[in-house]
Amino acid sequence: MTSISGSRILVTGGAGFIGSHLVDTLLARGAAEVRVLDNLTNGTEDNLAHLHGDARFSLTVGDIRSADARAAAMNGAEVVYHLACLGVRHSLHDPFENHRVNAEGSLQMLEEARERGVGRFVYVSTSEVFGTAQYAPMDERHPTWPETVYGGGKLAGEAYARAYFRTYGMDTVVVRPFNTYGPRSHFEGDSGEILPRTIVRMLSGQRPVIYGDGEQTRDFMHVSDTATALALFGDADGVSGETFNLGSGTEISMNELCTVVADTVGRPELTAEHLEARPGDVRRLIGDPSHTHELTGFAPRVGFAEGITELTRWFRARQRESPEMIDRVEVRNWLPAGVN
Ligand SMILES: NC(=O)c1ccc[n+]([C@@H]2O[C@H](COP(=O)([O-])OP(=O)(O)OC[C@H]3O[C@@H](n4cnc5c(N)ncnc54)[C@H](O)[C@@H]3O)[C@@H](O)[C@H]2O)c1
Repeated sequence: MTSISGSRILVTGGAGFIGSHLVDTLLARGAAEVRVLDNLTNGTEDNLAHLHGDARFSLTVGDIRSADARAAAMNGAEVVYHLACLGVRHSLHDPFENHRVNAEGSLQMLEEARERGVGRFVYVSTSEVFGTAQYAPMDERHPTWPETVYGGGKLAGEAYARAYFRTYGMDTVVVRPFNTYGPRSHFEGDSGEILPRTIVRMLSGQRPVIYGDGEQTRDFMHVSDTATALALFGDADGVSGETFNLGSGTEISMNELCTVVADTVGRPELTAEHLEARPGDVRRLIGDPSHTHELTGFAPRVGFAEGITELTRWFRARQRESPEMIDRVEVRNWLPAGVN
């Protein structure tokens, strides 16, 4: 396996939250070239603005389902990281488009990579393929019974990546991040995640919103750790054809999360408002980190309290520049845009 250092790499979805951090990590690790293919549905050029002037970096604005865009972006790539996708809440109001990008688009990416003889294809999946935990922590053999079309479409992408390894001998790896948070995370529209939404609401003096009883749990990892781990999978030995969970092994409930954020923001009086449960909201997710650790040596470095403090500082600075951020936080953000 060629090493990341000195390689030509394509990152789909690289203008998004995790993808843009992965691009930073790959460049810091000495990649010869990092290309991004992103149609900017949810990603932004702002996320990559700091890279202008680095001759090793380029952005192709295009759709992974366009043969021309794929050909332009993948030409000469030795390693492909496939992150481009539409999110879980999007799948609730537009299941077919979600499927077309997440499942069909992934198959198109795999086929393009096979035709071009790409050295390694890292398929970035999600813990949402599991559905709720049947036992904890969840290892790679945990049953995959997704509760949303998003989870189903991402699982199809996983299955295709493993199939390309088995039937065509292509070097594919499946990595399943659990929940990731950090700078550049989404607070807006149907991309908005619980942590950034909660921080932005509280910074604006509004109570956080919890769907259901708030005893749902998630396993959070800071995006710098997620990016480090993904970079390792680009050239690790002994991982081809395998599937890896990327969790921290700890879980936190939505009720606890709101308390931590309220304390960090300095507004403990802003207690959570409970609304009806969100459809398809998984009850419990907590990843077993041991398989990933054994094969790559990876262990997360940023603790939750430290990460939340940093993220709050980051959003406070953004909010000073654009106080209207709060207008982009939608209450029931799984409904079509504008229907709250
Ligand atoms: N954020 C999390 O907590 C989390 C957890 C588990 C897994 N993941 C996975 O990590 C990856 C990145 O997620 P993220 O949170 O950074 O989301 P994101 O929305 O910020 O990134 C996805 C990117 O894909 C782009 N995109 C969407 N459709 C496209 C298309 N048809 N063609 C080209 N580009 C397209 C979007 O513009 C966006 O920049 C995804 O594969 C997701 O399933 C994320």
